[in-house]
Amino acid sequence: MKGLFITFEGGECSGKTTIIQQLCKTLEEMQIPYISTREPGGIDIAEQIRNIILDVNNQKMTEETEALLYAASRMQHLKEKVIPALDAGYIVICDRFLDSSLAYQGYARHLGMESILQINHFALSHLPDLTLFIDVKPDVALKRLENRQKTDRLDLENIQFHNDVYQGYLEVCKLYPDRIIKIDGNVDLDLVCKHCIDKVLDFIKR
Ligand code: TMP
Repeated sequence: MKGLFITFEGGECSGKTTIIQQLCKTLEEMQIPYISTREPGGIDIAEQIRNIILDVNNQKMTEETEALLYAASRMQHLKEKVIPALDAGYIVICDRFLDSSLAYQGYARHLGMESILQINHFALSHLPDLTLFIDVKPDVALKRLENRQKTDRLDLENIQFHNDVYQGYLEVCKLYPDRIIKIDGNVDLDLVCKHCIDKVLDFIKR
């Protein structure tokens, strides 16, 4: 394994998409080989699973099914895209990974982090080398969500769910203090991008 696996985590509207775009631009300018991908998705099979999970018509989906589908898409994405890229020496930037399942399904949906680890453990051969958690208070994030056009099944959840996801992430940060760095995401987005890029470049140059 020659590359580095770097993931971004956070609740809805935490700014991950913009941050990742800015980071990729910097890596490109520095001619550092990277790929950028996302969960659930990143490859055809996993994007199909994503569509099923996030479809607003699938209100009957059980919490367990949801957790298993996220795990299934993760395994396919890892084997088909992430591991080959790491083997080829790329930096892999991934929008969400296992920590999302721990915070959303394990904590906010009350399935328990232990159960999430169990179902993922079945085929999970890799944890990220570095994870940046964009720490945005749920009320700040929800104000941003009101201005967003697209809606999916998870956007329809109430404020309590988003608060629980946030609490879940704080628990996940405690579980993996050596891997996860918290970034203050409540400030101006340009500044958040700069903090994230600095952390990633420091890590790559270690
Ligand atoms: P996105 O909005 O960052 O593209 O992510 C899609 C949604 O999927 C988001 O609401 C978080 C959710 N999610 C989980 O609940 N569990 C997971 O394991 C992953 C990867 C995402």
